[in-house]
Amino acid sequence: MKAKKPIGKPSVGNLEHLKSEGDLNLGAQRSAWAEHLDPQTRHWLEEDARYFLHQSLSTPCLNVLKSCHGASIEDMQGRRLLDFRGNIVHQVGFSNPRVIAAIVEQMKQLSFCTRRYTNIPAIKLAKKLAELAPGNLNKVLLAPSGALAIGMAIKLARAATGRFKTISMWDSFHGASLDAISVGGEAIFRSGAGPLLPGCEHVPPPDNRHCPFHCGAACNLKCADYIEYVLEKEGDIAAVIAETVRCTPFIPPLDYWKKVRAACDRHGALLILDEIPICLGRTGRMFACEHYGIVPDMLVVGKGLGGGIFPLAALIARDDLNVAGDKALGHYTHEKNPVAAAAALAAIQFIEEERLLEHVQKLSVYALEKLRELMIKHELIGDVRGLGFLLGIELVKNRTAMEKAVDEAEKVMYCALARGLNFKLTMGNIITLTPALTISQAEMDQALNILDQCIAEI
Ligand SMILES: Cc1ncc(COP(=O)(O)O)c(C=O)c1O
Repeated sequence: MKAKKPIGKPSVGNLEHLKSEGDLNLGAQRSAWAEHLDPQTRHWLEEDARYFLHQSLSTPCLNVLKSCHGASIEDMQGRRLLDFRGNIVHQVGFSNPRVIAAIVEQMKQLSFCTRRYTNIPAIKLAKKLAELAPGNLNKVLLAPSGALAIGMAIKLARAATGRFKTISMWDSFHGASLDAISVGGEAIFRSGAGPLLPGCEHVPPPDNRHCPFHCGAACNLKCADYIEYVLEKEGDIAAVIAETVRCTPFIPPLDYWKKVRAACDRHGALLILDEIPICLGRTGRMFACEHYGIVPDMLVVGKGLGGGIFPLAALIARDDLNVAGDKALGHYTHEKNPVAAAAALAAIQFIEEERLLEHVQKLSVYALEKLRELMIKHELIGDVRGLGFLLGIELVKNRTAMEKAVDEAEKVMYCALARGLNFKLTMGNIITLTPALTISQAEMDQALNILDQCIAEI
């Protein structure tokens, strides 16, 4: 008889292949980093591990935070780090004073909205999102998380098309709920989860560096053609669901989305773009699909929508997809939370008034140039890429074979953490840099200098 895994004993065997969504918080380098922590911090980390359920990617925690302001976080020992991760919620910087003021004001007035009623901040937010979103994306539904908004989009696609199948991408992430991991493509979320939603077809993402069609630099969009192939073979796909630009980042070629848009139209499938982490200016445009000159049928936004303080996401759908009045698409308790809506309105106003899109466009060109200089200097860097403040440095053992330099990437990460820079590793070897949109050139330089030094030391 097969031995049962003892309850409460997480299996942490060889997890290298699972390093897709982020570094795993495990391993020898991770344990060694604990030497940076004082007894008080260790005490709180032990309490954290004692009282929270353990799960991959989150457990064990690295450190304990005391405060966050602007582009930085500060730990209990008073160490400040530039946060080039921020779970990508910090478009307007952490603890943005205008967002906090709007939240406090709203809390004094109307702190919650009982169902059956609506409220002015929520209505103003829906109107603002409809104005900002391209084309005829004019109908909004709010939810307290990105995964929930993705679930609403899937339900609406089913209701509108009478079909249930989807096409989405391997290696993509759309949230951690069962419906979101069904369309997501990351092993760490899917493996061992049991039966997922039926009819979720997966295709390769538009990543010419690791393309199964071997396109390489001479990309001829075979991956987009393959989506049309699957649309045709299946014949009854409700929706293609994808991140416009994968946060890793994989930046699709300019014509990619035009091709996919046209294929969806030919086969009666809806196009749902997930811009949860990259909406509201991260790519230098309010929405990333604007770079590609297409309008999806549904756009899903979140993360920084709540001003970096409130959990808030939104589904923005085409006007004529208002077809599910007799169905519960979301129906979440905090659906029209007035305080979350006030935070979102203040964040959007800040982005507009401070002209953050122009700032991102300008400073990201400078940053990418600096990254290219680093690539000339360090053999370990196999590729650098970026769109706005979504920047990636791919570390490889060998530039021809592009073999992932996973250990080296972790070394760079722990070195940077010790010197005051936090960032995320994706796919095990890609340094992903997503700073607050408010950072100055001096802060960008400081971060890139830390990276330069740490890569040089490996
Ligand atoms: C592309 C993408 N979609 C969806 C989600 C899920 O959002 P949430 O964590 O708010 O459920 C995330 C979160 O990281 C994301 O990056």
